[in-house]
Amino acid sequence: MAKLIVVNRSGEEQAVEAQSGLSVMEIIRDNGFDELLALCGGCCSCATCHVFVDPAFADSLPPVSEDENDLLDSSDHRNETSRLSCQLTFSDSLDGLRVTIAPED
Ligand code: FES
Repeated sequence: MAKLIVVNRSGEEQAVEAQSGLSVMEIIRDNGFDELLALCGGCCSCATCHVFVDPAFADSLPPVSEDENDLLDSSDHRNETSRLSCQLTFSDSLDGLRVTIAPED
């Protein structure tokens, strides 16, 4: 199975099995990273699933929607690699994707 590499807020890295069709947020949450709150459950209204994405995969990801962009703007920690992980659907083409959980706002 494909792997997603997750870096937590302490900088610890862990490779987890990632099922195609799930969102990156669901994969992170299902693997016990409770610091990713994902309060709205994935409906793009909370921004607590904010991650920084490995720039090497930028071209493989869907574009940022207007809603996602507005929510990311509400974060003090936004940078050019910021995404809301609930808006990223994992697929085998993303095998090895590395995401870092953003600091809490
Ligand atoms: S889980 Fe709420 S915006 Fe992603």
